Amino acid sequence: MEQVLGLLGAKPYQRDLLIEYLHRIQDYYHCISAQHMAALATLLRIPQAEVYEVASFYHHFDTVLDDEIPPPNLTVRVCDSLTCAMSGASALIDELQQAAGSAVRIQPVPCVGRCHAAPVAVVGERAVECADAQQIQKLISADEREALPITGMPGINAYREQGGYRLFDACHEGGHQVEDIIAALEQSNLRGLGGAGFPAGRKWRILRQQAAPRMLAVNIDEGEPGTFKDRYYLERDPHRFLEGMLIAVWAIEAEAIYIYLRDEYASIRVMLAQELQQLRQHYGVAIPDIQLRRGAGAYICGEESAMIESIEGKRGVPRLRPPYVAEVGLFSHPTLEHNMETLFWVRDIIEKGAEWFASQGANQRQGLRSFSVSGRVKQPGVYLAPAGITVQQLIDDYCGGMLAGHEFYGYFPGGASGGMLPASMKDIPLDFDTLQEYGCFIGSAAIIVFSQHDSARDLALNTMRFFAHESCGQCTPCRVGTVKACELMQQTHWDIPLLEELAQTMVDASICGLGQAAPNPLLCAMRYFPQEFEA
Ligand SMILES: Cc1cc2nc3c(=O)[nH]c(=O)nc-3n(C[C@H](O)[C@H](O)[C@H](O)COP(=O)(O)O)c2cc1C
Ligand code: SF4
Ligand code: FES
Repeated sequence: MEQVLGLLGAKPYQRDLLIEYLHRIQDYYHCISAQHMAALATLLRIPQAEVYEVASFYHHFDTVLDDEIPPPNLTVRVCDSLTCAMSGASALIDELQQAAGSAVRIQPVPCVGRCHAAPVAVVGERAVECADAQQIQKLISADEREALPITGMPGINAYREQGGYRLFDACHEGGHQVEDIIAALEQSNLRGLGGAGFPAGRKWRILRQQAAPRMLAVNIDEGEPGTFKDRYYLERDPHRFLEGMLIAVWAIEAEAIYIYLRDEYASIRVMLAQELQQLRQHYGVAIPDIQLRRGAGAYICGEESAMIESIEGKRGVPRLRPPYVAEVGLFSHPTLEHNMETLFWVRDIIEKGAEWFASQGANQRQGLRSFSVSGRVKQPGVYLAPAGITVQQLIDDYCGGMLAGHEFYGYFPGGASGGMLPASMKDIPLDFDTLQEYGCFIGSAAIIVFSQHDSARDLALNTMRFFAHESCGQCTPCRVGTVKACELMQQTHWDIPLLEELAQTMVDASICGLGQAAPNPLLCAMRYFPQEFEA
């Protein structure tokens, strides 16, 4: 109890801050003991089982019961998701595991959002791009485990000097009508960029029809393997997003803002905390309370209702809908939930005009998309390109072509969830609604390009392992289906009829998008890469 009180400080203690409290204990002691959990339960006046069920849900918490041995105090996480797997993650993990002494834990983990520089490792909180074992050993020996600060991005003053916050100030001072702003968003056809693509303007309108108090929740969980666009924009221009966020709050008259940031983005957490403080100092009571909440390594918390559960300090288990979060969301209040990038575009759309955004597409599509491109291309990275561009154009015109010695064999058009397609289908416009007929979707626009040196079968298995690891366990088709699919996919001979039946059950009967989308790469591998199964 004394140790927990020392970390939490004075009262009051809030139940919804349970995950923040668990982080403090984990950061300090590198694990969370049964005694710590008992103390937290006493302070929050909740059952110990409730603390344990939350602590044990999240991958970044190490619960240690009385008879268990605590983990070493340094963890090196090595990404083994798609792009890193193609770039030698498995050999790197083996090498590190052989060299690691008892004071270091080497942990394979899913995508950490830096796929352009695969393979990626994280030593404590220090991200290491294009990682090799020597580099990591050096950091371990020097005990360099802190996140590096973000430098070079415009702070609040520089952003203001470039005309930033003029739009929000004008909104706030009566220079714009809410109706005009919403109409502009509708005309621009801005769609939610977190994956589902729901029209942003329509969502704001729905929120305004709900009873006050209303809330705004910002989704920066960015867990979809292959996606790193939110990190890219935050590291370069955070106030453009924050201004969009304040305009949304003004438009829907929200009483509080919750920003949910994935735990892997430690440098951004420090930067955002500072920039939010500047914002509060500047605007005072003119803006609502802004809370920055820290995820704890659970992909499912990117799903909007699971994120809300997590902000409330619970396990990130998706809610059954209806009611939708726009009606009953955070703390039971109507909630506007947006991906960070959706808000990032609000200022530009209003200032440059809805037509500017809407007129940008290719192949009869509208708008711009931020593609996170990784894999076997010469210059992986985030590219802002017209919606409807094809993968071949992205590879040729933005990424400098394929890597030497690699021929284009196939691609994931929407991260791990969005399925995969062969190179022969390189001319499909990439956008919301254009990929469904092929059993795929664009999601967060994470394009992973693979070559003749890769196998669609192995990549599909990689994604299924990811879904099995990240399933929240609430429903059987997903919890059991992902594990059974992994077992079947590890066989030399795939039992295709059985896998198809299993996939159909997962699609039909899973509660949320994770289980429904999990079989996409598996189904695409069987459908589009039959040559890999003939032998
Ligand atoms: C399994 C799963 C994971 C998701 N992960 C994210 C995520 O990491 N970031 C995100 O913005 N949206 C994610 N989404 C989509 C959200 O549920 C939601 O649609 C989105 O945050 C709404 O914001 P938008 O309208 O601005 O896109 C995920 C959805 C599912 C089903
Ligand atoms: S589909 Fe999977 S992640 Fe979604 S609620 Fe069911 S078990 Fe949880
Ligand atoms: S950082 Fe490894 S796949 Fe994204």
